[in-house]
Amino acid sequence: MMKLSPSILSADFANLGNEIYLVEKGGADYIHVDIMDGVFVPNLSMGPDVVKSIRSNTKLPLDVHLMMQNPDRFLDTFVKAGADILTVHVESTPHIYAMLQKIRAFGVKVGVSLNPGTPVCAISNLLSLIDQVLVMTVNPGFGGQAFLPDMLEKVKEVVRLREIHKYSFDIEVDGGIDEETIDLARKAGANVFVAGSYIYDSPSVEERMDILRSCLGLVS
Ligand code: DX5
Ligand code: ZN
Repeated sequence: MMKLSPSILSADFANLGNEIYLVEKGGADYIHVDIMDGVFVPNLSMGPDVVKSIRSNTKLPLDVHLMMQNPDRFLDTFVKAGADILTVHVESTPHIYAMLQKIRAFGVKVGVSLNPGTPVCAISNLLSLIDQVLVMTVNPGFGGQAFLPDMLEKVKEVVRLREIHKYSFDIEVDGGIDEETIDLARKAGANVFVAGSYIYDSPSVEERMDILRSCLGLVS
């Protein structure tokens, strides 16, 4: 199923409640929350208290993307804060298998993400634990960067891996998604689409949501 996961990284943080309301009204399937620690990526964003506030503001599932070195020590904090999908980077820990087992044991959906330079084979022995593979289509750390077309082949490889092993996890793309790149990513086989600046750095959130949803055939 096609899903849209607006990233609040480009929202106005002083009006976060309303910014979330706008995408919810516009047909968002998830709210994508980017957590950055200034170590794994060269930027800081928000922490678990913000996730908690968002949780009490919307019924939509929270798609929490941890761009954090050694996420182990914070997994339970983000689950308690209200994450529904918890995504960790395969590069962020020497113990990715254990990390995914731990997320699974918390009873939330398990996501694993690949930086642009990380090959698909990095997840080939983890597939039984995964609900969602997040293919980064920019270098993580900032909103508003250009989509990396090299990642389309990677999305296709993840689709092939899923087919060979007969799994049914979602494939999410994150970074540089707009009305053109969403189409390329969809054709490559992605089915969950994160978009931040395209939605929020615009005169009309409603219009941008409509455009993206119609690209996915979701307009009601
Ligand atoms: C980047 C984040 C993205 C970011 C995408 O590190 O993971 O979720 O918000 O922003 P855009 O859509 O502007 O590329
Ligand atoms: Zn993200």
